Amino acid sequence: MKTPSAPLGTTIAVIGAGRLGGVLTRALRGAGFAVTGPLHREEEVPASDIVILCVPDAEIAAAAAVARPRAGLLGHVSGATGLDDADFSIHPLQTFTGGEAPDVFHGIGAAIAGCTEDAERTAAQLAEALGAHPFPVDDAHRAGYHAAASLASNLLLVVLDAAEQAAVAAGIRSDEIRELLAPLVDRTVENWATQGASRALTGPIARGDEQTVRRQRDAISQQTPALLPLFDQLADGARALARAHH
Ligand SMILES: NC(=O)c1ccc[n+]([C@@H]2O[C@H](COP(=O)([O-])OP(=O)(O)OC[C@H]3O[C@@H](n4cnc5c(N)ncnc54)[C@H](OP(=O)(O)O)[C@@H]3O)[C@@H](O)[C@H]2O)c1
Repeated sequence: MKTPSAPLGTTIAVIGAGRLGGVLTRALRGAGFAVTGPLHREEEVPASDIVILCVPDAEIAAAAAVARPRAGLLGHVSGATGLDDADFSIHPLQTFTGGEAPDVFHGIGAAIAGCTEDAERTAAQLAEALGAHPFPVDDAHRAGYHAAASLASNLLLVVLDAAEQAAVAAGIRSDEIRELLAPLVDRTVENWATQGASRALTGPIARGDEQTVRRQRDAISQQTPALLPLFDQLADGARALARAHH
């Protein structure tokens, strides 16, 4: 994908050398910006047109206080945090563990906000330079928006880990079951994305086969009892989806 080139000579400093800070620095550099970073806690922040904070949400206020005098515009990358301490926000709607290639931003969404039109425009330009699609989310809705992102990624992992535990209890190795389940997970997500959850639902609950669900529940109860409350809650959710489809 061709991305727009960076405004000539724009200098950026990225503060925070964690999971997102490193890959964002590489990607912004790749997009043509003059980027310093990712800067660690004690490193001096050079005077820059834009300073982007890639620190945990609870550290944004402290890091902003240090960076503010060095920044033309100050931004953060948090999905849930408002603009009390920054001029703009750009939240890439993706999960980063740190080793990703710079093109990881291509084609993803990026929630943006700005204290002024200029600041919001800067956030949008940064998103576009990374190859992402900017979309606005205002302060009042950020926590709800971020809860949606966490449900789709962080909390989904709890379900996948439960599947792995149940399979291990059934005698299949962890690494083997992750490889075996991945195509099933991929197709499920693809069906959800194109058809919505109630149409994508298959399996015993969609078929009204409660006898099979009881046998699954008995197995969980005997082999991985700690998973039972999660299983019951998710099964109830699936019954509601099945009803919604009829
Ligand atoms: N990871 C993701 O998937 C993801 C996705 C979208 C948005 N984000 C956003 O990115 C931000 C950072 O998340 P992350 O996952 O990259 O966190 P992380 O891996 O925990 O990294 C945070 C980094 O910030 C550093 N730091 C903490 N306080 C600092 C300060 N006052 N000054 C300078 N550096 C400081 C930490 O250094 P120490 O280790 O020395 O404390 C650490 O290197 C958050 O706002 C998060 O919402 C993350």
